[in-house]
Amino acid sequence: MESATPVIVAIDGPSGTGKSSTSKAVAAQLGLSYLDTGAQYRAITWWMVNNGIDIDDPSAIAAVAGKPEIVSGTDPKGPTITVDGVDVAGPIREQDVTSKVSAVSAVPEVRARITELQRTIAASAVTGIVVEGRDIGTTVLPDAHLKIFLTASPEARAARRSGELKGADVHATREALIKRDAADSSRKTSPLAKADDAVEVDTTDLTLQQVIECVVTLVEEKRAGK
Ligand code: DC
Repeated sequence: MESATPVIVAIDGPSGTGKSSTSKAVAAQLGLSYLDTGAQYRAITWWMVNNGIDIDDPSAIAAVAGKPEIVSGTDPKGPTITVDGVDVAGPIREQDVTSKVSAVSAVPEVRARITELQRTIAASAVTGIVVEGRDIGTTVLPDAHLKIFLTASPEARAARRSGELKGADVHATREALIKRDAADSSRKTSPLAKADDAVEVDTTDLTLQQVIECVVTLVEEKRAGK
């Protein structure tokens, strides 16, 4: 690729692999935008819950999927997310949203809406963008210049997540995480999957700094046309 071309980096993988921390740091280090697509699915889920939509009824979700206006701020040093002008960065991380997001994000109308939004944001990034999620390399941005698929053992992922949740029970976190991954991997529309041309990085025994360095090197090699 030519060095002036905006670089598009897709980082996919299940939760607890260090995706968000890595994506944000890589984007900040390289002067790129950053998009957390999980936050968008969480935001639309928050809106559904807040508006009394029956989460167990995919047709009810589909009927209103176009209603909420979701806006993502893409500065890696301070990403933001609003729904109809309301800052939802805090509420979307709560357990109620986390337990419902897989069901909402499995609805094809929701995915079509959010995917379109993601493509528009990626296309408008001047220097380039790091987009993290589950289906970025396979579905949202299949022509990304670089695709990374992060993995880690379930034990490592649960330990990281319970650390983030400030002392939550590791066993319960592990079970919830495995359940959510199974739902995300088995849904019909664009499931969590590694693209054939993605570079897989197992982060189990790596520090965050090592993962960041590895991804930065891969982006720089792409930019240098290697
Ligand atoms: O990355 P996260 O844990 O914040 O993502 C929340 C949920 O959103 C995840 O369980 C599945 C869904 N998701 C998705 O379906 N596709 C994406 N590209 C990103 C997230």
